[in-house]
Amino acid sequence: MASVTSLTDLVSEQLTSALSATRPEASADPLLRRSDRADFQANGILALAKKAKANPRDLATEVVSRITTGDVIKDVEVSGPGFLNITIADRALVENLAARYADDTGRLGVPLAEKPGVTVIDYAQPNVAKEMHVGHLRSAVIGDALRGMLDFTGETTIGRHHIGDWGTQFGMLIQYLLEHPGELAPPSEVDGEQAMSNLNRVYKASRAVFDSDEAFKERARKRVVALQSGDKETLELWQQFVDESKVYFYSVFDKLDMEIRDEEIVGESAYNDGMPETARLLEEMGVAERSEGALVVFFDDIRGKDDQPVPLIVQKADGGFGYAASDLTAIRNRVFDLRATTLLYVVDVRQSLHFKMVFETARRAGWLNDDVTAHNMAYGTVLGADGKPFKTRAGETVRLEDLLDEAVQRAAEVVREKAKDLTEEEIQER
Ligand code: ARG
Repeated sequence: MASVTSLTDLVSEQLTSALSATRPEASADPLLRRSDRADFQANGILALAKKAKANPRDLATEVVSRITTGDVIKDVEVSGPGFLNITIADRALVENLAARYADDTGRLGVPLAEKPGVTVIDYAQPNVAKEMHVGHLRSAVIGDALRGMLDFTGETTIGRHHIGDWGTQFGMLIQYLLEHPGELAPPSEVDGEQAMSNLNRVYKASRAVFDSDEAFKERARKRVVALQSGDKETLELWQQFVDESKVYFYSVFDKLDMEIRDEEIVGESAYNDGMPETARLLEEMGVAERSEGALVVFFDDIRGKDDQPVPLIVQKADGGFGYAASDLTAIRNRVFDLRATTLLYVVDVRQSLHFKMVFETARRAGWLNDDVTAHNMAYGTVLGADGKPFKTRAGETVRLEDLLDEAVQRAAEVVREKAKDLTEEEIQER
């Protein structure tokens, strides 16, 4: 059996023909959305009414009168300024599922993409030497699900875990480790939890010296320079932090039953070598310009306080590169070396302005265009009762591992309560 027509498509077809029967001159998209009130909501009538200079509610009523309810659409009613709330017949749902179940090709009636492309999907990107938090869980889970769906359509997917593995904080960490050798155990000798607790201990201890000892602070600054200039001993110590962190990352992803491939862990630092070239290209093309010594890109529609333009900083006045330069260089790599046709970034909505600026810059440079597109699949931040990012009572962000452990424990309680005949082992398995 080939593909099964989705209920969305069936409803969409019916609405489109009702819309064009009502206003033959205008081609209108019914704009079907999921809804809390019904199975679908159609918002397209508002735009149609605007075009036809008609009253949206009257138009909606007219459209409704042309929809035959029955087999698929059980009920349709006008709501609000001219939305349609649509309810699907139970029978249609059951029959659609049955048809998919009967698909003996194992594809559940889902067609393969007509023109599959290459999608590079940037997800599950924790930071080195830092505890993972709820946001990292969401990126991992959403990204993994999206990837699975794309794979199923025949798309070629390449994962990129853009871990935070670079920055000035490594000067402090490395310098501390140099002065206190042996504080990080060899990665092969620790499990995830020990790895994270070692990293936390080193982080806290180095921070304390950094904040109280001026001479150490200066040594840490010099260490940043050594790291950036590729000093061998410094890089080796940096690698220890990365490796120790990976032990921890893998233990968490394992808990999530998620497969993460080592070759797809390509962190910010992987793009260091390409950043000067990125800056040169952008400046030569006139996409980026010098402003107060820094190399920046301006946007007409992005403004901050006092209507001042907010630029994207490609290179700082001191010559340093940051997060944006790494992302722009990653785009060149993903488009020209990996030959991606779609770039997806599963990253918290708080970074969407960053991505808006990065994508627009890449479009101006011609690295992105109508055929090669980039999208921030933004998800919301988990907030606490105070409306601020979720924290523990002690004011720390909630550790992802604690959250996962608590989820398993609470689920076990529910199962234990309901299924009294299960052994403890079976309960844990559930
Ligand atoms: N490591 C970053 C964070 O924890 C997320 C990286 C997102 N990906 C990217 N290409 N910028 O905030």
